[in-house]
Amino acid sequence: MKLKTHIDGFDEILKGGLLKPSAVLVAGPAGSGKTTFCLQSLFNAAKNGESCIFISMLVESPSMIIRNMSQYSFFDNSVIESGNLRILSIGAGIIEKGDFAIFEFINDVIHKYKPSRVAIDPITILDHITSTFDEKELQYSQKRSFVINLFSEFEEWNTMLVMTGEMSENSIANSPWAYMVDGIIILGQEYCASNIRRYLNVTKMRGTDFSNGKHGFKMTSDGITVFPRFMPVPVTSDIESGNVSTGVNDLDEMLGNGLLQTSATMIASSAGCGKTMLSLQFIANGVLNKEPCLMISFEDNLKELAKSVSGFGLDLEQYHTEDLLRHIYYPQGEICPDELAIHIKKIIDEIGVKRILIDSISGLKNVIPDPKQLETYIFSLIKYFKNNNITSIFTYELPEILGDVKIPDSSLPFIMDSTIIMKNIEIDGQIKKSIFVLKMRGSKADNAIKEFIISDRGFEIRDLFAESD
Ligand SMILES: Nc1ncnc2c1ncn2[C@@H]1O[C@H](COP(=O)(O)OP(=O)(O)OP(=O)(O)O)[C@@H](O)[C@H]1O
Ligand SMILES: [Mg+2]
Repeated sequence: MKLKTHIDGFDEILKGGLLKPSAVLVAGPAGSGKTTFCLQSLFNAAKNGESCIFISMLVESPSMIIRNMSQYSFFDNSVIESGNLRILSIGAGIIEKGDFAIFEFINDVIHKYKPSRVAIDPITILDHITSTFDEKELQYSQKRSFVINLFSEFEEWNTMLVMTGEMSENSIANSPWAYMVDGIIILGQEYCASNIRRYLNVTKMRGTDFSNGKHGFKMTSDGITVFPRFMPVPVTSDIESGNVSTGVNDLDEMLGNGLLQTSATMIASSAGCGKTMLSLQFIANGVLNKEPCLMISFEDNLKELAKSVSGFGLDLEQYHTEDLLRHIYYPQGEICPDELAIHIKKIIDEIGVKRILIDSISGLKNVIPDPKQLETYIFSLIKYFKNNNITSIFTYELPEILGDVKIPDSSLPFIMDSTIIMKNIEIDGQIKKSIFVLKMRGSKADNAIKEFIISDRGFEIRDLFAESD
């Protein structure tokens, strides 16, 4: 039988929850969220009417635990008053008396309250216990039998046991606890660019399936929220055929009749060449056709974006208030990628998004600096968009201002359906802006290199050697 942990997002990773009975270790360094993990789960289970017990080993007194937990929204004093959640502590007096005294304390508690779940925080205090009878520290084999006996007691009473251990991800593999427990959940932290990211990783779970890898999580006044790892899923829905205007008629013509619906396009240009402006025309065209749109920006806020196209007669801020346009903005890349994916999916469901702009892939790199992970993430986004019949544009900043086009993330054009390049070129000592379609899957595109200008009417495309008006 499985019991839900009641930690947002985590039961999805565990395909339902943790087995009862089982003994699971939650391991992580100081401040990684272990105590919060246990109590969030127990408070929520107690609210559902279960009998739950939290045993603090030596570290914090029950009153201190209650004070620390009362800041969280899952805290509910009524479950403590009703006795559904009991917060107890094994103090120094019992620990010093050694193995028998500890066993007796836990045994009494289980017999008396018959809890469906128990948390012990931290179990690693038992690494240094003595024998009650000869007052010597237990040998390794004695410690092992003590812990195994303790676990069988919980198993016999059909109790789910969650224990915490203060240990790093590297040290856990060689720890004797790793062999003795049924499951291991690691709570870790890592630096990502200039942000600290928390992650959760299930490395062992006997007798049940789980989703592997590092899943991002955050801690807020609601406690822990886990974001299941965003992974590519095959395209299963029937892809709608049809064409979607870019918002620039001449560019639609170059593309053979606009973009294909449900396709993913990369618009690459050097800084300041106009990729955001062009993409905004695509979004505005969608909104004017009453197609809900989503923009994800890492560089400009909505006001800045709206200002850049206001001269074209487009009012992004107005569209935003009409709820035909949503905007997600993370200037410092301070969001975890798995959370961003959930945010995007939620908006897609809420307003039935038809067009998406990600501006830019270079900004997304602040969220996911690792090139391989970035590629998998973009690939997963594209698959998700296709399954939801969405046409997407990803902008990409080219490093060169002038000269040959080099795309450092060379695999990106392969995962896109179309690639449009905009670059500065020098003609007769003058810089002109050029645009061409590098690749167009499933349609016949024009191979010509054209010139474009951005006027108060928006994008205008013309032949490169045409005389200017
Ligand atoms: N309201 C909150 N918003 C965001 N983070 C919070 C909030 N409250 C606590 N935290 C974070 O929670 C962490 C402490 O959680 P917790 O006590 O569960 O960790 P722990 O792993 O049990 O730590 P220890 O090893 O010290 O026992 C700290 O890193 C703290 O920054
Ligand atoms: Mg703790």
